[in-house]
Amino acid sequence: MQIFTTRKGLRDYLNSLENKHLSLGFVPTMGALHPGHISLLESAKKHCDLSICSIFVNPGQFNDPDDLKRYPRMPEKDGELLTKHGCDVLFMPEVEEIYPEKPNESYDFGHLDKVLEGAHRPGHFNGVAQVLSRFFNILRPDRAFFGEKDYQQMLIVKALVKQLDVKVEIVPCPIVREPDGLAMSSRNALLSQKERELAANIPIWMNWAAKQLTGATIEEVKHSLQEAIQQHPELRLDYFEVCDAETLKPFSGHLNAKPAIALIALFCGKIRLIDNIRLNSYNLKV
Ligand code: PAJ
Repeated sequence: MQIFTTRKGLRDYLNSLENKHLSLGFVPTMGALHPGHISLLESAKKHCDLSICSIFVNPGQFNDPDDLKRYPRMPEKDGELLTKHGCDVLFMPEVEEIYPEKPNESYDFGHLDKVLEGAHRPGHFNGVAQVLSRFFNILRPDRAFFGEKDYQQMLIVKALVKQLDVKVEIVPCPIVREPDGLAMSSRNALLSQKERELAANIPIWMNWAAKQLTGATIEEVKHSLQEAIQQHPELRLDYFEVCDAETLKPFSGHLNAKPAIALIALFCGKIRLIDNIRLNSYNLKV
């Protein structure tokens, strides 16, 4: 695996391969890699000639300074894991390399960035858009791979590439879960044993909610969920919403009529976890 820390080093390398006309598959990450990230790499290797992962803890997308400070960093272990899984190129720049000047551009994705994570983490998606626009510009990938674990992010990245008019295909990849169902996340490592046990309820509650929603109203399901969560003082619900899976507008109407998704964010102690579940098998048109 080739490792680059500067944009020039990486660009020179990619330029040297230009006459080979290889398709580039890009997997952006913030490191502390787990099998969820590796599944994106596997997908990139399957669909593209050259796989490139980035590890960059992007300060601009953290609205909580403590969350940024706490964010797990393990570059050596990550490098070994990527090598083991056959990643071709790793890009791990320092902050100054990506932001020689403080970024100041602001994006507007209409309704998409105003709700859910956008409403609860002000500036988060603007930070994500700032970093990805730079990465797309440096790498010029053919495809970029994003996990449905961060479902809203995946929709926003699709909107971003339309807005920037860059020719990169955004490939959504399914959520990878722990054996007990908890969605894999770099933040899971920060949970105490008790919190980790409680977090295992999230996928159980989401599956329960999905079943209930075939009969009960959204408000009824939300209420029961809130009651179940309140049994545990360590947990605090940030949101539970049922949305149109293409627009993230509040879902209304019949579940059989259009794609729908339930999304949750909750605090487990100090750690904020998110998850989602598709409520039907409609294909997305986004
Ligand atoms: P990070 O949280 O490291 O996630 C990198 C990618 O891995 C994202 O596309 C995310 O959705 C995916 N991912 C994480 N957990 C997953 C799981 N359990 N199953 C499937 N995919 C999973 O998301 C970010 O970093 C950043 O916002 C980034 C896009 C790198 C921009 O800074």
